[in-house]
Amino acid sequence: MRRKLAAGNWKMNGTRASLAEVQAIAKAHPAAQSDLLLCLPATLLSLAADQLSGTSVILGAQDCHSEPSGAHTGDLSAAMLVEAGARAVIVGHSERRENHEESSELVRAKARAANEAGLMSVICLGESLAQREAANTLDIIAGQLSASVPDTATGENTVIAYEPIWAIGTGMTATTAQIGEVHDFIRARLERRFGAGVGLSTRILYGGSVKPANAAEIFAVSNVDGALVGGASLTQADFTPIVTALDAAPEN
Ligand code: 13P
Repeated sequence: MRRKLAAGNWKMNGTRASLAEVQAIAKAHPAAQSDLLLCLPATLLSLAADQLSGTSVILGAQDCHSEPSGAHTGDLSAAMLVEAGARAVIVGHSERRENHEESSELVRAKARAANEAGLMSVICLGESLAQREAANTLDIIAGQLSASVPDTATGENTVIAYEPIWAIGTGMTATTAQIGEVHDFIRARLERRFGAGVGLSTRILYGGSVKPANAAEIFAVSNVDGALVGGASLTQADFTPIVTALDAAPEN
């Protein structure tokens, strides 16, 4: 019922020279069963849009402003990203929540702005190590989920990404039991708030040190509809086995 989604987040990596990897990823998956999304630095969007037209790879950005225009030096509106060729945008990544002090209320406004401009928003949630060790994980996720997801969310315009902060870029992956507990919880909360239609059609991705070696076991976990991949999305050699594992994963 939910199409699986393999998403790459290039973060602040990639220059014009890296477009060869974008091309290689598109070529390696001419007809993947899963949806493929590459969230590139904004500077590469219009170049990559040309490259990716006619391929199965969806182009995404990594952040947008909550306003459509105005005096916001350095920021980009959702409509600007659409014009550059993006069809999706990540909002509320923990690196933005931490480095730019973004609140869940701001993330919700960004997600709404993205949706109004026609972008699918990938809304990120995740607990810190201290919060997990204090047994607060589900409370943190519940709070972030209810405050960050706009009332207008649908299964088409919204994707949730669970990314435990302590697993990002550390090589530490959450256990399958930890992932399953949080994904089942997010699913239940979405169903409770939005009803079964939106609740069951919204995709929930796991992110945090997803690699070729651990992808298959993560994709077998209940309510894991794919991954948001950082470091291992930067090269076709690493991303392809993750996509292949997702294509082969059971319905869950
Ligand atoms: P890594 O896969 O590099 O741990 O990054 C995960 C992430 O933050 C994706 O948004």
